[in-house]
Amino acid sequence: MNWAVTTYDSAFGYVSAHGAPLIDLLDPQPGERVIDLGCGTGAFSAEIAERGAEVLGIDGSKEMIAQATAQHPGLSFAVGDAHDFTTSESFDAVASNAALHWMTRDPAAVIRQVHAALRPGGRFVGELGGAGNCAELIAAMQTAWRVFGMGEPELPWYFPSPAEYTARLEEGGFTVRLLEYAERPTRMNEGPNGAADWVRTYAANALADVPPELIEPLLGRINDLAAPALRRESGWVADYVRLRFAAVRKADTA
Ligand SMILES: C[S@@+](CC[C@H](N)C(=O)[O-])C[C@H]1O[C@@H](n2cnc3c(N)ncnc32)[C@H](O)[C@@H]1O
Repeated sequence: MNWAVTTYDSAFGYVSAHGAPLIDLLDPQPGERVIDLGCGTGAFSAEIAERGAEVLGIDGSKEMIAQATAQHPGLSFAVGDAHDFTTSESFDAVASNAALHWMTRDPAAVIRQVHAALRPGGRFVGELGGAGNCAELIAAMQTAWRVFGMGEPELPWYFPSPAEYTARLEEGGFTVRLLEYAERPTRMNEGPNGAADWVRTYAANALADVPPELIEPLLGRINDLAAPALRRESGWVADYVRLRFAAVRKADTA
């Protein structure tokens, strides 16, 4: 399931969009200034720095930034919310890996702040969960919640369709150069207990509203419901659907 173009004109020629690591779509150049938005513990920031770019990792979590700083003492990190961060200088690129779908309050505001941080011609390159991401996992959660008489679980993610995110980027002053929308079944590494461990890790806020005595039976039911679609002989697989894009900030018009 792919949408839009298959190659992308990076600074040094064409790279295949399909399956290319995000770092190759970003293609950071020595001396460029790059923000890693939602940097977590800084693994992607370190990849950017290895290409010779100057990187600033920004994350909303103090704990993540503390860990990033401890793990990568030579790099710069700052606590900031993607919806309202500001910078005192212009950047050549903003990159974001697996973080934009957690920024749910106002996706247009995130794009606005990225635009403000970039020089005209600067790149915004990212990967996030797309529409339909984790559909089986979410359906299992919703059914289990209903079975236990609790209505709908509160889901903490924004999984836009390709058309929706393209429109947002264009409205936000970007030209979209590449947008890829693909299924990416991914081995679950969250723990031995399949969908239950995945929910504990990524939907902790939804579980916070569940009476403690219901948590184990609820998670057990989620495993039963999700197993036919997601449990293979080799182990559990999450039904990820990814959206990756590369966009360029348009020149300012007078
Ligand atoms: C799944 S992690 C990805 C971390 C990193 N980019 C990586 O590739 O390993 C998502 C990160 O987004 C951060 N995040 C979520 N909402 C945010 C927001 N509104 N502003 C800044 N960071 C945010 C979280 O704190 C978390 O570190």
